[in-house]
Amino acid sequence: MPALTADGVSSGYGRTTIISDVTLSAERGTVTTIIGPNGAGKSTFAKTLVGILRASKGRIAVGDVDITRMSGHLIPRNGLVYVPQNDNVFKRLTVRENLEIGGFASRADPATRMAEILSIFTDLDKARDKRAGFLSGGQQNLLAIARALMVDPSVIILDEPTAGLSPAYTDVVWSQIERISKLDTAVVVVEQNVERALKHSDFVHIFVAGTNHVHGPAAEIAGLDLAAIFLGRSGAH
Ligand SMILES: Nc1ncnc2c1ncn2[C@@H]1O[C@H](COP(=O)(O)OP(=O)(O)OP(=O)(O)O)[C@@H](O)[C@H]1O
Ligand SMILES: [Mg+2]
Repeated sequence: MPALTADGVSSGYGRTTIISDVTLSAERGTVTTIIGPNGAGKSTFAKTLVGILRASKGRIAVGDVDITRMSGHLIPRNGLVYVPQNDNVFKRLTVRENLEIGGFASRADPATRMAEILSIFTDLDKARDKRAGFLSGGQQNLLAIARALMVDPSVIILDEPTAGLSPAYTDVVWSQIERISKLDTAVVVVEQNVERALKHSDFVHIFVAGTNHVHGPAAEIAGLDLAAIFLGRSGAH
């Protein structure tokens, strides 16, 4: 059974439907990226998965637990966590304090989990008593990911974790994303950079105008005319 299942999901803001009939599933141990033009609905879909927005149609499940109507604050306890693009750390708190906050909904022992996380994110370990606001942008993004991992999730959703980072730090973040997936987690990443998505992920979903008709293994997507698909010129699948 997939760690995450979204089946025929529609949602939007107020009466405006932004995404419609989106179906996606993600398995533990894999990286799935969502790419597509600005305004295609990628973040709207991510927010719907984690209960910030309500699906008006369809079903969302984590493992065999239906979370479609679950309150957003209960969703992390069921193993699904989300890292928004901006404002994702408490800047006045230290690295360690940020991780402790992430541990509130932890399904694992928080102290053990923090030690595990700091052994993976060695830069954060070195800076564990620093205030988050003094970290670089890239380190703050890693801290946000590390904090979300404190609950030992089965699924983590990252909205543009490398936006605004240098190419060198983008490499660091992507290598951590691949590592996280190998910890038996399903990782779903919203990504602007198509080459990065194809290089680092197992599966790719292309969002155009609020839906994801084109999706598949990264190697298969790499062979398609992505420019035409992005412009809505190809019905491809
Ligand atoms: N809070 C909101 N209220 C109303 N409409 C919104 C809101 N947030 C986004 N939208 C609209 O929903 C559509 C999809 O936006 P969304 O942020 O999901 O796109 P995206 O694919 O994440 O784009 P980007 O690549 O720029 O991050 C856009 O037309 C946007 O204007
Ligand atoms: Mg977005």
